[in-house]
Amino acid sequence: MIPILDLKQQYLSLQAPIEAALRDVMLNGHFILGPNVKAFEAEIGTFLGSPHAIGVASGTDALHLALRALDIGPGDEVITTPMTFVATTEAIGIVGASPVFVDIEPDTFNLNIEAVAKAITPRTKAIMPVHLYGQVADMDALMALATAHNLAVIEDCAQSMGATFRGRQSGTIGTIGCYSFFPSKNLGAYGDGGLVATADPELAARIRSLRAHGGRVKYHHEELGLNSRLDEMQAAILRIKLPHLAAWNEARRAVAKRYRDGFAHVPEVTLPAERDYGVPVYHQFTVRVADRDAVRAALDAAGVSTMVYYPVPLHMQKVHANLGHKAGDFPHTEKAVLAVLSLPMFPELSLSDQDTVIAAVTRAVRVAV
Ligand SMILES: Cc1ncc(COP(=O)(O)O)c(C=O)c1O
Repeated sequence: MIPILDLKQQYLSLQAPIEAALRDVMLNGHFILGPNVKAFEAEIGTFLGSPHAIGVASGTDALHLALRALDIGPGDEVITTPMTFVATTEAIGIVGASPVFVDIEPDTFNLNIEAVAKAITPRTKAIMPVHLYGQVADMDALMALATAHNLAVIEDCAQSMGATFRGRQSGTIGTIGCYSFFPSKNLGAYGDGGLVATADPELAARIRSLRAHGGRVKYHHEELGLNSRLDEMQAAILRIKLPHLAAWNEARRAVAKRYRDGFAHVPEVTLPAERDYGVPVYHQFTVRVADRDAVRAALDAAGVSTMVYYPVPLHMQKVHANLGHKAGDFPHTEKAVLAVLSLPMFPELSLSDQDTVIAAVTRAVRVAV
């Protein structure tokens, strides 16, 4: 079976330094907010070009803490996409604010900025774009809108670590960038982890306080915070992986190029659009096909793993039933979730496996249609 993702190959390539670093942490005995978290925050801040980078417990907490730091809460609205993982809107709901959904651009699956403009109300406090599958949303249009309406922009970069927009790293264009180190991400830990990046020193200080029980001085607490720190062991692992991230993302783009070339004459496979304003990092390579579930079953039988991100859009999820949405509210999203299919994508995917995927998909779409 060709897996959609194989983390073992990456681990084997870095096994010795990772195991040595973990041993060092245990011998050191400094497990929470120790030297590795401090060093990693500096190193990833340099990588991102962000003056402040704060390690937290997960990507979900990164979003939650960003909203808290911006004082977004009950009565406030945050505009976002229904085509994302639930963590995006979970964070909005947990602080007591309301997610306001708008539809996507069908070819990139990212927020449609004209739709965002129409959704702004006096209660809107922020826009939360999700750089889905590793491609940055149209941040020029989005930032112009946010500036005109005095709105914060929280970038959900869980899937876009290393992607750029006009040469700038995703997550450093808006007010706050939120990243995930979930193991399957482009820069993945061996457990949960996340990061908040911002250029604003006050927001950074507030997030540092909020991640450690709402206090800047130990045992002195100014407000209700969280226990949400990046773990020292995960930071040690991430420090070893970070220098490889650019090459891994380049390898993902090479896989994407081979897929594009391979499907160039297969009209049954609709390729994801690439915008010339940025460089994507292909967290996923997601195509559209007709009769998706049959194609998926045929690929499974042919030994090719695939995934559907995401089968149910967030406006149709029970958790958001209180928003009163119904089928048909976001037609581009609803159409996309029936057709999207993510193919095997990871830096170590061999050329022969890439060719097997291309041949199997080509056969499957021709049989299924
Ligand atoms: C778009 C998006 N946002 C947020 C998250 C949450 O990140 P985490 O799992 O680290 O909490 C994820 C992934 O898991 C995601 O894909």
